[in-house]
Amino acid sequence: MKQIEIANGQSIPALGLGTWKMSPEVAERVVEYSVSIGYRHIDCAWIYENESGVGKGLKNAIKSGVKREDLWITSKLWNNRHEPKEVRTAIEESLQALQLECLDLYLMHWPVAQKLEVIRADDGHQFLSLNEAPLENTWEAMQQCVERGQCRAIGVSNFNIPKLNHLIDSTGIVPAVNQVESHPYLQQSELVQFCHDHSIAFTAYSPLGSGDRPEAMKRANEPSLLTNDVIKNIAAEHNATPGQILLAWAVCRNTIAIPKSANEARLQQNLAAADLALSNENIQQIARLDAGYRYVDGTFWELPNGPYTVDWLWNQ
Ligand code: A2P
Repeated sequence: MKQIEIANGQSIPALGLGTWKMSPEVAERVVEYSVSIGYRHIDCAWIYENESGVGKGLKNAIKSGVKREDLWITSKLWNNRHEPKEVRTAIEESLQALQLECLDLYLMHWPVAQKLEVIRADDGHQFLSLNEAPLENTWEAMQQCVERGQCRAIGVSNFNIPKLNHLIDSTGIVPAVNQVESHPYLQQSELVQFCHDHSIAFTAYSPLGSGDRPEAMKRANEPSLLTNDVIKNIAAEHNATPGQILLAWAVCRNTIAIPKSANEARLQQNLAAADLALSNENIQQIARLDAGYRYVDGTFWELPNGPYTVDWLWNQ
């Protein structure tokens, strides 16, 4: 498995397992199975409401002989825990659910803050503005988690270049990773370049287009990655599946991909995709598919009377 080295000298397996949209029971089964077939990187988050299931799956995998130090486990700080004094409690909850002493990576899930009592904001008043909860204060509190030995590295998710620059300039702490949506319809080449220039690993979420995300997050007539003709033709050329081509593409460009699957055959094919080499011509054909299209478009953070807008999120 290809490894992506991060600034502290550690390495992340380039193909990991995404756990968003799994129930705790499914997560337990899938995590244990995935580790048994060779996955060594599991991407989690407090808000996925399944970390206890992931923790049981990890425990079973470790009982079967896999060493903890050979696994890369990521979790994410939810938006309602941005106040610096809440960060420690938040990571402790994830560590407890995951049955771990230390995470490999802890990410700030979104550059958006909510009031402590709000899990999912449905009104603008439920947010905290960035004046009330500056991202850099949260970030410095996350760095203390590293100093306390609760995680080995910290990073961010859903950050664009201006927000990365702001965080780095105001704290001097460079994120180890930026995890954002990316696939052939949203290649994010400028952001990938920026991250790599700053020794920030780039992790692609929703690399397959996240077809099983909640209906409320879907639009009518969304383009499909898995049935795109270019992807299908390249898949036929390599005797592979379209999903494998999407993942091989992510790995080829030195990014990390974390596809979710709860199906054993697809878990196997997704893992194998990390070893599939694409030709330069394949890469050029895929480069032409870029459309700036987001499946996870962030509109859920733009609520009446709230401090955040989609334009601010992605462009400012
Ligand atoms: P399933 O869990 O039944 O395998 P993403 O990683 O972009 O969020 O996409 C996850 C979605 O893609 C899920 O619906 C998952 O379904 C499906 N999926 C996972 N692997 C593959 C694959 N190799 N080919 C087609 N669909 C896949």
